[in-house]
Amino acid sequence: MKVISLASVRGAPGVTTTAILLASTFTDALVVEADLDGGVLAVRYGLGREPGLTTFAADGPDADGGWRAHAQDAGGVPVLVGPDAPAASTSVWRTAGERITHKLVAADGVAIVDAGRLRSPVPIVAASDLLAVFVNPVADQLVALTHLVPTLRQAVRGRVAVVLVGDGPYGVEDVERAVGVSVIGQLPNDPDAAEVLRVGGSRSHLARSQLARAVGALGVALSSVLLEPTTAVAAS
Ligand SMILES: Nc1ncnc2c1ncn2[C@@H]1O[C@H](COP(=O)(O)OP(=O)(O)OP(=O)(O)O)[C@@H](O)[C@H]1O
Ligand SMILES: [Mg+2]
Repeated sequence: MKVISLASVRGAPGVTTTAILLASTFTDALVVEADLDGGVLAVRYGLGREPGLTTFAADGPDADGGWRAHAQDAGGVPVLVGPDAPAASTSVWRTAGERITHKLVAADGVAIVDAGRLRSPVPIVAASDLLAVFVNPVADQLVALTHLVPTLRQAVRGRVAVVLVGDGPYGVEDVERAVGVSVIGQLPNDPDAAEVLRVGGSRSHLARSQLARAVGALGVALSSVLLEPTTAVAAS
């Protein structure tokens, strides 16, 4: 799979909400919960805690069905739900992170990884073709991102980019100049559309919302980066 990780540095800029919406813009995408603060998709969408990441991690490398046998449906999007307890989430990524990553990378399609708030990147984030860091364009989040960028550039295999969410005093050029990372997309503040997704509603009602249209454009931008030659991606 191509791996696109979504993450934040502070606050809750809408990583999980966007992960589901973004996956729905691809024909062959899977959402993987890798938020070390614990997964929320099982609760939001009324799903079981299994199957999911834990059963996928325990499965043999040649098991029938690959990830599909462990995915559940979150409003029309396949998801590998992560444990909701932070300790269990940290544990599965610490003990089985390499194995999970290896199996997903070897499969077809696109993995949209909900990496939650960034810490030292777990293996699937390190293996990303693209890490999109979500920030509200406000000073405290931009300062936090600036401090993280050198670490991320070293730790992540592919490109690092920023997604700006909502309004703030800083625009695209300010952010690119201050942080030194390109802005790959902008999402509106659209609480109504986001709330439908947060309570596990169907995304088919959202098609004409501002948020869905902006996430569609983000999907196009991300796809075009994934098609760039690896050398260009690695150099950015
Ligand atoms: N683009 C948006 N506009 C307005 N509200 C949004 C947007 N995206 C998400 N929200 C709302 O913000 C809250 C947090 O969203 P979400 O859980 O997706 O954020 P997150 O970044 O994953 O947070 P966390 O770090 O807690 O996992 C929810 O109430 C959600 O409905
Ligand atoms: Mg989240």
